[in-house]
Amino acid sequence: MKIAVAGTGYVGLVTGVCLASKGHDVTCVDIDEAKVGLMKQGISPIYEPGLSELMQESMGNLTFTTNAASAYEDAEVIFIGVGTPEKQDGSANLSYVYEVAKEIAISAKRDCVVVVKSTVPIGTNDKIEAYIHDKQKHNVKIYVASNPEFLAQGSAVRDTLHASRIVIGTEDEYPKEVLLKVYEKFDAPKLTVGRRSAEMIKYASNDFLALKISYVNEIANLCEGVGADIEEVTDGMGYDSRIGNKFLNAGIGYGGSCFPKDTKALSWLAQFNDKEIRTIRAAIEVNEGQKFRLIKKAKKYYEDFLFLNIAILGCTFKPGTDDLREAPSLVNVPLLLEDGAKLRIWDPVGMENFKKKVGEKNIQYCTSIEEALKDADLCFIFTEWDEVKNMDVNLYKTLMKCPIVLDGRNCYSLDKFENTGITYGSIGRRTVNDIE
Ligand code: UGA
Repeated sequence: MKIAVAGTGYVGLVTGVCLASKGHDVTCVDIDEAKVGLMKQGISPIYEPGLSELMQESMGNLTFTTNAASAYEDAEVIFIGVGTPEKQDGSANLSYVYEVAKEIAISAKRDCVVVVKSTVPIGTNDKIEAYIHDKQKHNVKIYVASNPEFLAQGSAVRDTLHASRIVIGTEDEYPKEVLLKVYEKFDAPKLTVGRRSAEMIKYASNDFLALKISYVNEIANLCEGVGADIEEVTDGMGYDSRIGNKFLNAGIGYGGSCFPKDTKALSWLAQFNDKEIRTIRAAIEVNEGQKFRLIKKAKKYYEDFLFLNIAILGCTFKPGTDDLREAPSLVNVPLLLEDGAKLRIWDPVGMENFKKKVGEKNIQYCTSIEEALKDADLCFIFTEWDEVKNMDVNLYKTLMKCPIVLDGRNCYSLDKFENTGITYGSIGRRTVNDIE
C-alpha cells in the first residue's frame, strides 16, 4: 500500500521503517532538511537498536522527503507521528499535529485514512477530522482513525514488529478495513474500538505503568526503613499473575519522553473536566521526590559536595537510548555542580546530548568507566547500562579514592559487595559495608 508518515522521531521513523519492511511503499516526511539528508543515505538520525539495519534492508520501499504535499497527495494512508510535547501547564502541545493536518487537508487528492499515532488528549481525533474537513481543498473522502503507539525506546523495532496489541480506533468500516490491511502481516492481537477509547487506552496504559513504578518506589523506600528487601518483595509479588512480574523495578524514578508527559497530560485533562485523578497526581509527586533519593543517601557520608570528585555512571533516562528527556541525571548533576563538586561522567551514547544541555564546566566526560572512577570520592549510578552491570565491582575499590557507590538502578546483587570494603547503597535494600 502507498503510505506516508509525518514525523521521523521514535514513533514516525520506526513505524515507517517497520511498515516498509513488510512490503509497503512508505514515504517519510520531516521538516528537518539535515535529518532527511541523513535518512536518504540510509542513516538513522536516532539511536535505536536494530533500526539502522532494518532501514538499510528496506531502503527499496522507503523514500524520505521534506516535500509534504507530494507525499500526501496520493497516499492511501497517512500516519501522523509528530511530537506532542508538554506545555507549561502540563497539557499537550498539539500544534505540530495540526500543522500536519492542515498540510494533509490542502494536499490530499485521493480518498485516504489519516492515522493519528501521536499521543493526543481524548477527543483530539474528532477535532482533527473536523479541522481537516473544514480546510480540505479537493473533493475526496478523508477519514481519521486513532492508532496509538506502544513502543518503548531501546526496544522500539521489536515492540513494533511484535506488538503486544494493535489498537484501531474508529467508528467507520472503511478505515477499519484499511488499517487491518496495513497490519495484515503483523503478528499481534488487533482490537477495533471507538476512537475516544483508543485515545484513552494509550494514556491509561502509560499512566498505569508510571503508577506501578511510583508504587514500587514507595514500597522500596519503606523497605529500607523496616529492613525488608525490595527485590525479594517484588519477586514474591510477581508470582501473582494479577500483578505480573514486569515493571516492578525500584529506582530513582521514571523519566523519558512519555511517562512524565502523559501523567501530567491526563491529570490536566481530568482537571479540565472538573474531575481529579488522585492516583496519577500521587504518582507524579512520588516520582519527583524519588529523583533525589541518592543525593539524600550521599548526605550521610558527606555534609556537602564541595571539591569532591564524583563519578557518574549513566546519564540517559534508561539504557539502549541516547535520550535524556526527564532523565534523573538532569536534576541531580546541576545540584552537585551547584554544591561545588567536580564530576566525571561516563555514558556509552548519551554524553554528546548531555554536554549540549549541561555544558562542560567542572565536568570531565570520560570514554571509559575506569576513567570516570579514578580517584573518586563517591560514585552515582543513574542508568543500568550493561557495561556497568557486567563490570568487575572490585574496580570500585581499586580505582576510587573512597569506594562509596550509590546505585539508583539496583544493578548488582548485594552479595557481590560482601567483604569487599566497598560501601554499596541502592534502592529499597540494605546498604552493604555501611559506614556508621
Ligand atoms: C513508555 C512505555 O513503556 C511504552 O509502552 C510507550 O509506548 C512509550 O512510553 C510511549 O508512550 O511512547 P519508554 O518511555 O520508552 O516507553 O520507556 P520505559 O521502558 O517504559 O521506561 C520509562 C522509565 O521508567 C525509564 O526511566 C525507566 O528507567 C523507568 N522504569 C521502568 C522503572 O523505573 N522501573 C521499571 O520497572 C520500569
